[in-house]
Amino acid sequence: MTGVLDRPYSMADWRGGTQSLTEEYDYWIDDIEGSVPTDLNGTLYRNGPGLLERGGVSLAHPFDGDGMICAFRFEQGRVHFRNRYVRTAGFLAEEKANRLLYRGVFGTQKPGGWLANFLDTRIKNIANTHVIYWGGKLLALWEAGLPHRLDPVTLDTLGLDNLDGLLAPTDAFAAHPRFDPQTQRLVNFGLKPGLSTRIQLYEFAASGECVAQPVFHIPGFAFIHDFALTAHYAIVFQNPVRLNPLPYLLGLRGAAQCLEFNAKEPTRIWLLPRAGGQPQLFTMPTCFVFHHANAYEAGNEIHIESIAYSHFPTLEPGLDFREVNFAALPASLLWRIRVDLATGEVNTTIVDDRPCEFPVVHPAKVGQPYRYTYLAAGHDPKVNAPLQALWRCDRHTGEQQFWSAAPRGFVSEPIFVPRGLAPGQFLWEGAQGEDDGWLLQVLYDAASGKSQLLIFDAAAISAGPVARLKLKHHIPYGLHGSFTTQVAPFPSS
Ligand code: CO
Repeated sequence: MTGVLDRPYSMADWRGGTQSLTEEYDYWIDDIEGSVPTDLNGTLYRNGPGLLERGGVSLAHPFDGDGMICAFRFEQGRVHFRNRYVRTAGFLAEEKANRLLYRGVFGTQKPGGWLANFLDTRIKNIANTHVIYWGGKLLALWEAGLPHRLDPVTLDTLGLDNLDGLLAPTDAFAAHPRFDPQTQRLVNFGLKPGLSTRIQLYEFAASGECVAQPVFHIPGFAFIHDFALTAHYAIVFQNPVRLNPLPYLLGLRGAAQCLEFNAKEPTRIWLLPRAGGQPQLFTMPTCFVFHHANAYEAGNEIHIESIAYSHFPTLEPGLDFREVNFAALPASLLWRIRVDLATGEVNTTIVDDRPCEFPVVHPAKVGQPYRYTYLAAGHDPKVNAPLQALWRCDRHTGEQQFWSAAPRGFVSEPIFVPRGLAPGQFLWEGAQGEDDGWLLQVLYDAASGKSQLLIFDAAAISAGPVARLKLKHHIPYGLHGSFTTQVAPFPSS
C-alpha cells in the first residue's frame, strides 16, 4: 500500500474501547439510524470483560477483566438494552475491598510486587467469555471453572451452576459450546491439563439433560480454547506450547504468560469420536489456534476452517495491553485444513492475508458442508491491526464481501440470526439460505466515545448496516455472545 496513513486507526481511538463500564443500565434504545427489522425478535446476549481496573490498579490484560453481560431484547422493531456484571464470589469480594485480591491468568498481578503474588495460585472465576441459553438456563461461561447461572430477564446472578450435579467444584467447563443442528444437542468439553490432558466431552439434549460424556486422554500439556464439530467427531487442536509454571509460582507472571511456544513442533489435530473410543492424531504445520469457524466430513476427508496465528500472541510481561503494538503481533488468518483419514495427509491453505477473528457460519450449517464464513476483520490486508470490519468469504466462488468502520470504528464478533424465526424456535430452524438472515455486531465508535449495535443484511454486507442502534455509553470490547428466541418478552418498562 502506498497510502499516506501507515494505519487506518489511532491508538488513542482504540483505547477508548478498553475502558471499564461501571454503570449498569436499563433502557429502550431510541437513537436509531435506519430501521430494525420487525421479523427480528428475541434476545442477543453478549459477554466480555467489563471492568479493566480495580482500586486504581489497571489490569495487565483485558482477558482478566470481570465478566459483564449485555442483553439486547428485540421486540417488533424496538430494542431494549440491559447490562449487568456477573456477581461472582471474586467480583463481590473485590468490590467490597475495592482492590484486587486475585491474580489474573493473563498476567494481572496484585499490587505489592512478586512477594505479594508468590505461590498464590488461587484463581478467580471471572465468568467473562461467553453466554448461552440452553435447557432453560442462561449461563455465563469461563473455561477454567464452572458456569454462572443468570436470570435471563433481569441478568441477576443466581450463582455457580454444576449442571444438575454433572460438574464437580474444581471441574472446568469450556467457554465454546457448539450447537449441533443435526442432533439438536449442545456439545461442549472440559479440560484437565497435566503431563497428559484429560478431555471430557459433554452432549446435552434440549431439556438440558446430559446424554453423553465420553472421556479422552491425549499425551502432553494442552491449551485448548475451542473445538470444531462434525457428525462423528469433536476436533481439538493441540497447540505446540508447554507450560513452564515457575515464573507463575514465583509471582512474576500470569499463568498464560508462562506458555512457551515451540516453533519446531507441529500443531496436533485430534479427532475425538463423539461415540467414544480412541482419539486419532494428525499433524499440521506449526500454528496457534484459538477459534474454529466450522468443520464437516466429506467422504474420507475432514474439512476444517480455523483462525491461525503463526505463533502464540502473548504480551511482554510488564507491558500494559493499552500500549500494545498491533503490527508487531502475529496476524490471525483464516486457514482451510483438509485431513485425509485414509492416508493421514493434512493439507492447509491460507485463504487470505487479511487479519481476522471471531468466525461464524449459519447455525443450520454447524458440522455440515457450508458456503459462507462471516468474520470480524482488519481494515487492511497484510498488516495486523484491531478488528474494524465485517467480512464474508464464499467457499464456492472465492467472492468476498467487506464493510469497514475504519478509521474510528472498532468491531467485535458478528452473530448470525436467520430470518423468519418464530418464538421458541432454535436458530437452525430459521430460513435455510446461508445469507438469508441478519448479522449483529457491536461497534465502538471513537468519534462519539459510545457503542452501537449494527444490524447487517447478511446478503448485502458491503451496503453497510441496515440499522445503527446508538447506545448512551460505550461497551468495553467483548468476547462472545449468542442469540435466542426462547426467552419470554421482557416486561415493558
Ligand atoms: Co473464544
